[in-house]
Amino acid sequence: MRPLLTRRQFGAAAASMGAAAVLATVSGQSEYAGRLGAPLDVGPGTTARVRLIAAQRSTSLPCFGKHLLPMWTFTDGEWPPIIRLNSGDRLAATLENRLPRPDESTSIHWHGIRLPNDQDGVPYLVQPPVQPGESFAYAFTPPDTGTYFFHTHCNTVEQLGRGLEGVLIVDGDTTEPYDADTVLFIRDWQVDLEAGEFNTFFTLRGAGRAGTFGPLRSVNGEVNPAVELPASGDCRLRLINGDVTRILKISIEGADAAVIAIDGVAVLPFPLSSWSMGPAMRIDLVIRAPQSGRVARLIDGSTADPVQLAYFVGRGDPLVRSDFDPAPLRAATIAEPNMKTATRLNFVFQATDTGQTVSMLDDQLGDLLGELCLSSRTFWTINSYAWPDREHARLPPPRAILDRGKSFVFALKNDSEFSHPIHVHGHTFKLLRSDKQNLPPHHTDTLLLLPHETAEVGFVADNPGDWMFHCHIIEHQETGMMQYFRVR
Ligand code: C2O
Ligand code: CU
Repeated sequence: MRPLLTRRQFGAAAASMGAAAVLATVSGQSEYAGRLGAPLDVGPGTTARVRLIAAQRSTSLPCFGKHLLPMWTFTDGEWPPIIRLNSGDRLAATLENRLPRPDESTSIHWHGIRLPNDQDGVPYLVQPPVQPGESFAYAFTPPDTGTYFFHTHCNTVEQLGRGLEGVLIVDGDTTEPYDADTVLFIRDWQVDLEAGEFNTFFTLRGAGRAGTFGPLRSVNGEVNPAVELPASGDCRLRLINGDVTRILKISIEGADAAVIAIDGVAVLPFPLSSWSMGPAMRIDLVIRAPQSGRVARLIDGSTADPVQLAYFVGRGDPLVRSDFDPAPLRAATIAEPNMKTATRLNFVFQATDTGQTVSMLDDQLGDLLGELCLSSRTFWTINSYAWPDREHARLPPPRAILDRGKSFVFALKNDSEFSHPIHVHGHTFKLLRSDKQNLPPHHTDTLLLLPHETAEVGFVADNPGDWMFHCHIIEHQETGMMQYFRVR
């Protein structure tokens, strides 16, 4: 039994901490009473077979009005496609490349899944790129429950820009059923609707700054959709930032809301005031749905004028629920890094001189000057190393070699004026501390580093192979901010 009373101190305390002390250790309270459930002990499940055919499909998502856009997608049906597994199930996914250009290779990265290295989908590094007419068979059993997504890892700014992504959900983490379970896949589109075409996905100006923002914003392919929820129920919302660029600042107006998982991993529920989500980041929320006829709103406060992304409508006879105290999820089984023996490695994320020049260029002149004068499209670095090409074909050496089974602390320093969501493949980081934010304890596969923030994360290098480590603002990734490390 969870007590009926809740405490409200946590939110206020967290808000007042604002600019936290240097390398403040993450705080550890929740106002709710629940504890994480015991990890599920699952035996082998069944095998789910899916066929993903990367192809151009003329598509009219609701957000495109009546206009057809030459999307690149993995399936014929609904966008985004959702693959749903039970804990312990094996996924056998065949990717076929039928993209319309002779040299347009592709691959699938299963973002956030701690899978075997050869299933990780990074072309050249762990598999050959899948050329048009070819196919590739992926098979793995996700070790964790939660909300994940998958996407191309080739020519990503365009292929992701055109829609080559989908949702991957692994069920089995609930301790008590919620009254609904709803995916909210949030992204912009770089479209010119009248022309029925996509705009340029990559701009020098964007790549040197915060990225190129799409003018059309959507949730599940709709502009400001009405999301129907059972009135007064406690509803699980799985928010996924599927955009190539935009960092969201998510809040809910008009309903109680708690965060129950971050990047798929259960956290002790805490009240949502606002949460910043870079591209590829996910949060699972529980909200108390509005009463019949009332609405609540999903807001992005990242822009000067906050934007309503979607709204929630209560439907049906009101459910009778006690005071808001959402049931926690089951704990994940992620190895705990040993801080006594951990090896510390420093990573600095910076602009190159060219990147700095581009970011200072005048808005109008930016692209013109860039095209004319810039000798290099390398704008970003990790420890002064820039990935050599926009593609993966020329592999540099690994930036670090980690002994398998050992604990590591990565000190991630953002020495730039822009935010960088830093993504690690094959592992999940435990956030240890930050000098700019006071966040609740959590794991993350994509840590949003604010300008000039230093954050420390810990993890056990328990997954052998070559693992990418890059910014998930794709234009940053493709202009240098990408490296990999080897676990052996
Ligand atoms: Cu979701 Cu290497 O990326
Ligand atoms: Cu970045």
